[in-house]
Amino acid sequence: MPVELTTREDCAVLTLNRPEALNALSVAILRQIGEAFAAVAKSKARALIITGAGNKAFCAGADIKEFRHQAMLDCKARTELGQATFAKLDTLPIASIAVINGYAFGGGLELALACTFRLALPNAKVGQPEIKLGTIPGYGGTQRLPRLIGEARALELILTGRTVDAAEAERIGLVNRLVEGDAVAAGLAFAREFTCYSLPVLAFARGAVHRALDLPLQAGLKVEADLSTLSFQTKDADEGAAAFAEKRKARFVDA
Ligand code: CAA
Repeated sequence: MPVELTTREDCAVLTLNRPEALNALSVAILRQIGEAFAAVAKSKARALIITGAGNKAFCAGADIKEFRHQAMLDCKARTELGQATFAKLDTLPIASIAVINGYAFGGGLELALACTFRLALPNAKVGQPEIKLGTIPGYGGTQRLPRLIGEARALELILTGRTVDAAEAERIGLVNRLVEGDAVAAGLAFAREFTCYSLPVLAFARGAVHRALDLPLQAGLKVEADLSTLSFQTKDADEGAAAFAEKRKARFVDA
């Protein structure tokens, strides 16, 4: 299967499994990714880890072999499918972690950009090389990259199409952290830093931070006040304060 969904510990693991084409995203694979995200939304997973099969690539982008002789409307439909599929990550109730194990180019980087977090193995090489193909990023790169690393750096990467190595990706904030060893194990270790907390409260926190990017400050502060108030209505907020008073570890129940 070109898209494999498994469970490891309390996390879902989505592996792009088309190593012979460096895990490139055909339209069929995009659809399968969307189906996998829907299955994750219904599961008990506490985080989603996404990585690529093989030791060369996370994902080399959209399947370039599908580009030639594309009718304009088919092209628009493909682009909108890619955007809508990756946007589903924002609506998942849990955080997602891209573990970039090799090339993440074009749509591959755009998939990683749509995740909550990005980790990079030492062999990670990322970029938006679409300009070299006579086109521009189409699965969210022109919008998410500047939000993440700023307008100037995003424009530089998109207009030059140059490749960024793992160390630079971390320095410019494109990835959260450099990791080593097995990709899934690294993703699980990172996930363990937050999956012990209350799932609804984690979702409030993600929601509030996301809104920060598209709202004026005063409107964003109102969202924060509302979500903070909501978090105090959970059993987990009672438990957190009780555990603090009783000098013990909190036992959250996701409610
Ligand atoms: N689409 C389809 N097939 C791809 C592919 C892609 N994006 N990337 C690699 N492949 C295939 C190659 O055609 C090759 O298959 P064959 O053996 O059948 O020829 C196989 O994967 C291995 O690739 P290479 O031989 O090229 O491997 P390499 O190690 O020499 O080079 C690479 C690796 C530098 C990543 C190179 O494959 C490459 O430049 N790939 C294209 C990267 C790219 O431009 N991505 C952006 C796509 S456009 C996009 O994503 C638009 C968008 O916004 C959605």
